[in-house]
Amino acid sequence: MVTGTSLPRAFPAGSRLNERGRLEVGGCDTIELAAEFGTPAYVVAEDDLRSRARAFLQAGSEAGQRDLHVVFASKAFPCTAVLELFAREGLWCDVASGGELYLALNAGFAPERIVQHGNAKSESELRMALRNRVGLIVVDNFDEIDRLERLVAEGELGDRGAQPVLVRVTPDVRGDTHEKISTGQADSKFGFAMGEAREAITRVQSVQGLSLQGLHAHIGSQLLSLDPFRRAAAELATLGEFPVWDLGGGLGVQYTEDQPAPPSIEQYTGAIVAAAHANGMGPDTRLMIEPGRSLSANAAVTLYTVESVKQNVSRWVAVDGGMSDNMRPMLYGAVYEAHVADRFGGSTDCVLAGKHCESGDVIVREARLNDPRPGDVIVTPATGAYCYSMASNYNGVPRPPVIFCKDGDARVVVRRESFEDMTARDVR
Ligand code: LLP
Repeated sequence: MVTGTSLPRAFPAGSRLNERGRLEVGGCDTIELAAEFGTPAYVVAEDDLRSRARAFLQAGSEAGQRDLHVVFASKAFPCTAVLELFAREGLWCDVASGGELYLALNAGFAPERIVQHGNAKSESELRMALRNRVGLIVVDNFDEIDRLERLVAEGELGDRGAQPVLVRVTPDVRGDTHEKISTGQADSKFGFAMGEAREAITRVQSVQGLSLQGLHAHIGSQLLSLDPFRRAAAELATLGEFPVWDLGGGLGVQYTEDQPAPPSIEQYTGAIVAAAHANGMGPDTRLMIEPGRSLSANAAVTLYTVESVKQNVSRWVAVDGGMSDNMRPMLYGAVYEAHVADRFGGSTDCVLAGKHCESGDVIVREARLNDPRPGDVIVTPATGAYCYSMASNYNGVPRPPVIFCKDGDARVVVRRESFEDMTARDVR
C-alpha cells in the first residue's frame, strides 16, 4: 500500500505523487505526458541517469581507485540521447556489434573510450573497430585472434603500432541469476575457459599489431550478491599481472518492492575496488566496470493505456503494449510491478496483459491495481534497461517513443515508430 507521496523504490529518483495524486517523473505529470505523447511510451528521468553515472565515478574515487573507468553497456538502452548523456558525463561505452559501435560513435563517444565486445565478431565488425581506433577490443576466441592477425597484417591499423586488446576469460563463477543471463559458468559461450586462458594470452602476445592490456570477465547480469564478483576477481588474478582489469557489469536492480534490495552503487563499486586491490590489482592499474542495467533500468517507466477489463477466472486488464515493448517477463519470467498512474495503492488482484496474440504476453502476472478501468494510464517502473533494446514490431505494433523529462519539461528523443517506418525497407 502506498501512502502519502512515498513511492516504491523501483521508481526513478525524484518521482512523486503530486497534489492531484498523479505520478510525476522528472517533474512531469504522467497523465499529461500520456495525453500529449500517447502510449505506450518510455518516460526517462534524465537527472536519474546523470546521478547514477556520477555515483559510480564518485564511488570509485572514494574507494581509492584513481583510474576507474565506468563503461556503459550500451545494449541496456542503446538510444542516442542516453548515449550522449553518458558520453558527456565522462563514461566509456561497451558495444557488442557494428550497430552498437555506430550508435556510440554517432552519439559522440571518443573512439578511445569504446570497448568492442562480441563472441562472434564478423570480419566487417572487426575492420570497423580497427579503422575507428576503438580503445579496446575484447578478444573472445582463437578464431578471432587469427582474424585480427590477418586484418592487422592487411594494414587495417593504418599508421598505429598496435591495437589494444583484452582477453575475455570465463572464470567458472556462477552468480545467482536466471540461466539465460548467466555467463561466468565453465560451459558458457563467452570467452576463454580458465584452462585455455594462458594459451590465449601467449597467442595474443605473439601477434604483432595487438597489444595485450589485460583481462576481462563478465559473470552475469541482475546479480544481487557481491560475492561472485569477488570470486571472479580472485580467479582472474591467478592468471598474472596486467595494467588493465575489466570486471564486466552485472549489478542487479530493484524491480519490485517485494524483491530483496540490491547492493547500492557505492557498495558494489567499493566491493569491486576492494576485491581488485586484494588480488594485487593495485590502485595504479586501470580498473574497468561495465554497468548497463544499474545505470539505466530505474531511470525509466513505461506508460500504457487500459483498453479493456474482463473477468473470468482472473481479472484481465489489457493494455496497448506488452511483449513488443518489454520482452523480459516472457524471456526471463521477470517480475514487474504496475500502478494506475493517478490512483496508486491498489488492491484489486489482476493480470496485466499486453495486446499481442499470445497467451504468454503478460506484463505482470500478479498485479494489484486500484480499480482499473478502460482509459486509465498504467505505469510500470524499472523499464529503462533491456526493454527499448529488445522491442519489436510484433503484430505490427509500432515501437514506443522515448521521452526525456527534467524539471517539468518533456522532450521526445526518439519518436514513435510509424506504420510507414514498417514498410520503409520494402523493395518492390
Ligand atoms: N558487459 C558485458 C560483456 C555484457 O555482456 C553485459 C550484459 C554487460 C556488461 C552489462 O550487464 P548489466 O550491468 O546490464 O547486468 N537482456 C537481459 C540482459 C542481458 C545482459 C547481457 N550482457 C535482460 O533483460 O535481463
